[in-house]
Amino acid sequence: MMTIKFATMFIILIVSVLFCPGSLANPSRVPLPSWSGCSVNGPLLPRPTQLDRSKVIHEATENLTKTLDSAIEKKIKAGFNVDNTSFSIALVSPRQTNTSDEENGILWSYHHLGKNNFQGTKHLNEESQYLIGSISKVFSDLLLLKSDVDLDDPITNYLPGLQKEGSPIQWSNITLSALSNHLAGIPSNLPSSFEYYALQSVYEQLGFPPISNESYPNCGVTGLSEACNETQIIEMMSSALPVRDPYTEPVYSSLSFELIALALGQKTGKSYDKMLEEKILGPLRLTNTGSSPGNDEKAVIPPLEKDVLGWGSDYGFATPGGGLYSSLGDLSTLAKRILDETIFSNPEKTRQWLKPQSMTSGINGLVGRPWEIQRTDNLIPQNPHTVDIYAKGGGANGYVSQISLVDEYGVGFVVLTAGPRESAVAWILNEAVITSLIPAIDSEARSQAEIYTGNFSLALSRNSTTSESEDMEPVELVLSMDEGTGLKIDTLARNGSDILKGIGKLWDEMLPMIGILNPEFRIYPTGIENPVEGDGNVVLEDWRINFDTIPSDNSAMSDLPGQGKLSNVCASWQTEAWIYYGGEALDRIVFKVDRDAKKVIGVDIPFLRTGLLADAT
Ligand SMILES: *[C@@H]1O[C@H](CO)[C@@H](O)[C@H](O)[C@H]1NC(C)=O
Ligand SMILES: *[C@@H]1O[C@H](CO)[C@@H](O)[C@H](O)[C@H]1NC(C)=O
Ligand SMILES: *[C@@H]1O[C@H](CO)[C@@H](O)[C@H](O)[C@H]1NC(C)=O
Ligand SMILES: *[C@@H]1O[C@H](CO)[C@@H](O)[C@H](O)[C@H]1NC(C)=O
Ligand SMILES: *[C@@H]1O[C@H](CO)[C@@H](O)[C@H](O)[C@H]1NC(C)=O
Ligand SMILES: *[C@@H]1O[C@H](CO)[C@@H](O)[C@H](O)[C@H]1NC(C)=O
Ligand SMILES: *[C@@H]1O[C@H](CO)[C@@H](O)[C@H](O)[C@H]1NC(C)=O
Ligand SMILES: *[C@@H]1O[C@H](CO)[C@@H](O)[C@H](O)[C@H]1NC(C)=O
Ligand SMILES: *[C@@H]1O[C@H](CO)[C@@H](O)[C@H](O)[C@H]1NC(C)=O
Repeated sequence: MMTIKFATMFIILIVSVLFCPGSLANPSRVPLPSWSGCSVNGPLLPRPTQLDRSKVIHEATENLTKTLDSAIEKKIKAGFNVDNTSFSIALVSPRQTNTSDEENGILWSYHHLGKNNFQGTKHLNEESQYLIGSISKVFSDLLLLKSDVDLDDPITNYLPGLQKEGSPIQWSNITLSALSNHLAGIPSNLPSSFEYYALQSVYEQLGFPPISNESYPNCGVTGLSEACNETQIIEMMSSALPVRDPYTEPVYSSLSFELIALALGQKTGKSYDKMLEEKILGPLRLTNTGSSPGNDEKAVIPPLEKDVLGWGSDYGFATPGGGLYSSLGDLSTLAKRILDETIFSNPEKTRQWLKPQSMTSGINGLVGRPWEIQRTDNLIPQNPHTVDIYAKGGGANGYVSQISLVDEYGVGFVVLTAGPRESAVAWILNEAVITSLIPAIDSEARSQAEIYTGNFSLALSRNSTTSESEDMEPVELVLSMDEGTGLKIDTLARNGSDILKGIGKLWDEMLPMIGILNPEFRIYPTGIENPVEGDGNVVLEDWRINFDTIPSDNSAMSDLPGQGKLSNVCASWQTEAWIYYGGEALDRIVFKVDRDAKKVIGVDIPFLRTGLLADAT
């Protein structure tokens, strides 16, 4: 009752204010400095297609190839030992001319076999096998998401032995979901997995107290005891200490993935390898991925002493957290199937997978399932905006690797290295490939989006049942691309009225509580599209006008130190499809696009009842 009464009063207020000349509120519209505005968190222009035909991307990859060649030939500084290092890197795009399901989507790749790689393959290619360390977690989470289990189930539904009277970790409160996204608060590894009996004297030399053999866990200690069996693992974990309570904050845990695999094994009665084969490797035809050890003949083996967790190791129970090997081709296929949203039977599930689950202390670092999400704001100098990279890194002895997905542009990157014991090489190559190619991909997206710009005015169609009036009142929509994000609306006028100004006035009356509307209007694609029946490859694409707010002066109060630090919050995600005129949202714009001809046929502004407008230029 109260709500209705308030709503009525509110409307009366708006109406009376709007129609009382001169009474329009006129909040300060001067943007504060250093405000670049808020776009959407997704593609700012349609994701570019046919990247294989893009001149700018071709030029960028050629440049990168030349730079890598020079580094390998020691003409320029590589930043790492090129003789001891082998690597394979790729740019992946599902959006190429005629890419079939069978292809791995590699648009560009580069391989280097280090001179000192005496063992393993002599012909480095897309099928060469590397250890991928923790990228294994991506496969294990994918397996979990593809299994018929409820993520909200506590792990004790599958492994009841974990919960004992007096277990320090409250296992019955830990769900499969919390294990899959590092939110269980349990230790990183089994207490035995990073214990090396041979290091005891080193510890002692470093000042640690001497300990007896009995102090060590009774299984799984390298050099002292046999690998743990499942019963022993469960036993060990039932007495392990928590690191945090569940859902406190992310605590990286490989052990979580081992428990997920044990739980799935309990449910299905199948081994991790068999489940992986049935659910992922078989269906995606990944023939160079599996549990270490892989195939020596195809392997890229670094010039290091044979060591635990290196090439040829059996990771045993630790496999689901870090013991897989894979190849550039297979990881590219994985990336491609995530980017084109065909990795699951429905695209929603892929999009859900590519969402953060928690945060790190760094403002640019979020944690997903099991994604390590890096937020950047400086990748594209000519068009700065936030670009999120959904990545996962992995390390094994002599191997460091990284897979990165940039969903905004629909591209992925794979970096596999063998040789170094330290992470530097992979990071150097990852930085090289991402920072040099993303600007070119952005540039291609912008040039492909040129078709959406222009002066739209001539009515192509008129539907008198949907139009309130038969009059051919002039409408003008001018769309351009500048140094900002998306497309800018330079003009939106109908029958001589400036509609953007009008929206500003309506906003000031209806939604001042949200903030001051940015007088600069931009539009972004939503991804919603509908085919026009019987019209070849013609689609109707929904775009939305971004109702962005500009910062108010929050430090207006005198005499308080340190004010003005909380201004930069993006509100535009809160303002979509909010205000309606006769059932049509004030932000919806529909492009009619002929995909085959790469042409915009026209644009419809439903809230203005324009019908389809054509580009007059
Ligand atoms: C490629 O390198 C040339 C020469 O350094 C440079 O002029 C050009 O802008 C580069 N192209 C791209 C796409 O990076
Ligand atoms: C792509 O497919 C179309 C139709 O199947 C064919 O006409 C065209 O030649 C193909 N292009 C390439 C580059 O394979
Ligand atoms: C943990 O789970 C038990 C039941 O298994 C429940 O009684 C208890 O409230 C839970 N504790 C928390 C902190 O959620
Ligand atoms: C501890 O274990 C090691 C390795 O099995 C063995 O060589 C050594 O004798 C043991 N020490 C004692 C005091 O039992
Ligand atoms: C696990 O190992 C322990 C100790 O060697 C042994 O007693 C137990 O039977 C084993 N359990 C299984 C299931 O193999
Ligand atoms: C590179 O490999 C060679 C041969 O295995 C080895 O002698 C050398 O120490 C390595 N250099 C570095 C910097 O790792
Ligand atoms: C006109 O609009 C009506 C109602 O939306 C629709 O049923 C009809 O198909 C439209 N006609 C044309 C020619 O677009
Ligand atoms: C267009 O503007 C004129 C002049 O303001 C007005 O008389 C007319 O009704 C308007 N037409 C429509 C369709 O709104
Ligand atoms: C398009 O509209 C803009 C702004 O109204 C104008 O400056 C420009 O001349 C127009 N271009 C053409 C080709 O009509």
